[in-house]
Formats: sequence, structure tokens, C-alpha cells
Amino acid sequence: MAVFRTFLGLVVVTLAVSATLSAAHLEGFNFGSVGSQGLFPEFYQSSCPQVNDIVTSVLRRAIEKVPRVAASLIRLHFHDCFALGCDASVLLDNSTIIRSEKGAKPNVNSLRGFEVIDEIKAKVEEACPLTVSCADIVALAARGSTVLSGGPDWVLPLGRRDSITASAEASDSDIPAPIPVLSALITAFERQGLDETDLVALSGAHTIGFAKCSFVRQTRKSVCPGRGGDNTPAPLDFVSPTRFDNSYFKLILGGHGLLPSDQVLLTGKGRQAAELVNTYAANESLFFQQFAKSMVKMGNINPLTGSKGQVRKDCRHLN
Ligand code: HEM
Ligand SMILES: *[C@@H]1O[C@H](CO)[C@@H](O)[C@H](O)[C@H]1NC(C)=O
Ligand SMILES: *[C@@H]1O[C@H](CO)[C@@H](O)[C@H](O)[C@H]1NC(C)=O
Repeated sequence: MAVFRTFLGLVVVTLAVSATLSAAHLEGFNFGSVGSQGLFPEFYQSSCPQVNDIVTSVLRRAIEKVPRVAASLIRLHFHDCFALGCDASVLLDNSTIIRSEKGAKPNVNSLRGFEVIDEIKAKVEEACPLTVSCADIVALAARGSTVLSGGPDWVLPLGRRDSITASAEASDSDIPAPIPVLSALITAFERQGLDETDLVALSGAHTIGFAKCSFVRQTRKSVCPGRGGDNTPAPLDFVSPTRFDNSYFKLILGGHGLLPSDQVLLTGKGRQAAELVNTYAANESLFFQQFAKSMVKMGNINPLTGSKGQVRKDCRHLN
């Protein structure tokens, strides 16, 4: 029997602890059984027990070389999940039968990290051929990137399979634009089964990474060269651009949110958004706890399971 004290201060008593759950995961937040759509954390326990170690080691090197990669991979999971569900549809390249989501408006010249996913997938295929889906690799890479940037860890339900279709139309219609209309952001999240709390917590991912100056709010254009209407990248969180922390929310409180969709979380008419911005700015561990919970929820959007879809050999192409 083992007793664990979680971040929530709850005491969790388990009779049999799975030997393959790493110590780090036991310290992380466990929401794995909450509405997980048939996914479960131990999915690769016997078929590819080393998958998370492979993901972490590739990520470590990639982030060391290009720190922005961590942000790009968290965003990749979001854009995958919001278009047709978390099914790696976002990774498919153009072909005779696929019109790639990479050409959709929210993604073109904007989504990054595809080469890192390719590198992880190649190493995973060497160790466990045709076993681990690209959709799970994207979810693992988003979690690993969060942890390696100083953010929370969580127990991640797995077992997603890969789509045999893509939808640039779904990417265009379902991924929210960075506009200062809180009701539109809430609606976009509600369409995915996510609520206002998920919206605010997940927007906290903007604690790392960059946005093009053309998106930057008028009052923040000073971070951009010239008139700021171009593609120069500006840090979403200029205080700690590569550290996953709660400074994103502190910046918003000071009126320094970079995107219109960031600042409107405080200024817009929502039931709880402004209050949550205040709460997360004041209490980083509460933000981390909710971010972990909301990432699990987002990762459970409409997965393909069982014999649906396929496990792609190459994430960019159908088998
Ligand atoms: C509220 C809805 C959201 C809007 C309107 C939004 C919009 C944007 C925009 C416009 C950019 C900059 C893109 C560019 O300049 O090319 C961006 C970057 C980013 N977004 Fe969001 N986003 C939202 C929610 C999220 C969520 C839910 C996540 C993840 C959980 C996320 C993670 C990121 C990250 C990490 C970056 C930086 C990427 C990089 O540097 O490569 N965003 N977002
Ligand atoms: C894929 O092909 C379509 C149609 O030809 C094109 O509009 C789109 O830009 C292409 N996407 C990419 C990512 O190259
Ligand atoms: C912050 O939130 C945590 C829960 O994650 C709670 O235990 C703690 O008391 C809070 N701290 C403050 C200063 O309110």
C-alpha cells in the first residue's frame, strides 16, 4: 500500500501502483479517469513502455536548440484537437486525396514543430513499429514541452488512433481567431465541450511562445519594429518568454496582454473570465492545477479508438 499527497493536498491511497507509471507522473495531476473517452494512461504499458522516455529525450535536445519549439508543440496539440478531434489530422500533408489543414488560415505560416514530431515518430517506430499513434505522440509532446518549460505534469490518457482524413475547412471554422470578442472565444470552446474555465486556463499557454506583430494589440506595438504590421515574432509573455509560469495573467492584469483575445479575458463580458485571470495571477499552483485538468479535457476531444482510423507509420501520410 502506498500513500501519496497530491498538489491538491488530498491524500490518495492506492493498493497496487502500476510499476510503469514514473515517479514524475505520480507527482503530477491525475485526471485520467475523468471522461477519458476510452483512453487510458497505461495504454502502451506493455506494447511500448519506453515511449515517453523517447519523447522526452528528443524534446530535451530540440528545445535546447530552439526554445520556441516547446510553445509550438503545445499549440500543435490544440490545433489538432479543435479540428475534427485529437487525431493527428493536422499532421497530414497535401496529397491527391488529402487537402492539408496546414494550409488553413489559423495554421499557414504559423504552425510549427512538425519536424520534431517526425523525429520522435522515427525513433518510436524503431523501438515499437506501428504501435504508437501520431495523435498520442502530439499529446505526449505537448505535455513534455509543458513540463520541460517549468509547467505542470499530468497523467495523460492514451490510445488515440490517427485519422484517415483532414479538414482545412474545420480548421478554418473551429479554431478561434485572436479577436477581442469574449463571447466568440467562449462559443468556440463550448463547441468542443470546453467551458469558460478551460478557455482562461488554456489561454495561459501563451505564457511561452511568440505571435506575429500583425496580431499584436495597438497598445503593445512598441514591442514590434516599425509599425508592427509585419510577420516579426513578438513574445506573448515578454517577462519570461520561455518559462511556463503565471506571468501571462499578471501581464493581462497590467493591461499588457499581447493579443486582443488575451486582454479581453479581463475586459470582456464573461461570467467568470475576469475573476479567473485575477485568481491565476495570484496563485500559480491553482493555474497549474487547472491547466493540467483542462489539457486532459482538451486531449479527450473526439478521439478515434478501437479499430477506427489507423496507426500511421509516417505522420505526414496515410499508410
Ligand atoms: C482563446 C483562443 C486562442 C486564440 C485566439 C489563440 C491565438 C493565437 C495566435 C494568433 C498565436 C500567434 C500565431 C502566429 O503569430 O503565427 C498563438 C500562439 C500560440 N498559442 Fe494560442 N490561441 C488561443 C488558444 C490557445 C490554446 C488553447 C493553446 C494551448 C493550450 C495555445 C497555445 C499557443 C502557443 C504556445 C503559442 C505560441 C506558438 C509558437 O511560438 O510557435 N493557444 N495563439
Ligand atoms: C494544399 O493544396 C491546396 C489546394 O491545391 C492549396 O490551396 C493549399 O495551399 C495546399 N496546402 C499546403 C499546406 O501546401
Ligand atoms: C493556491 O491554490 C492552492 C491549490 O492549488 C491552495 O492550496 C493554496 O492555499 C492557494 N494559495 C493561496 C495563497 O491562496
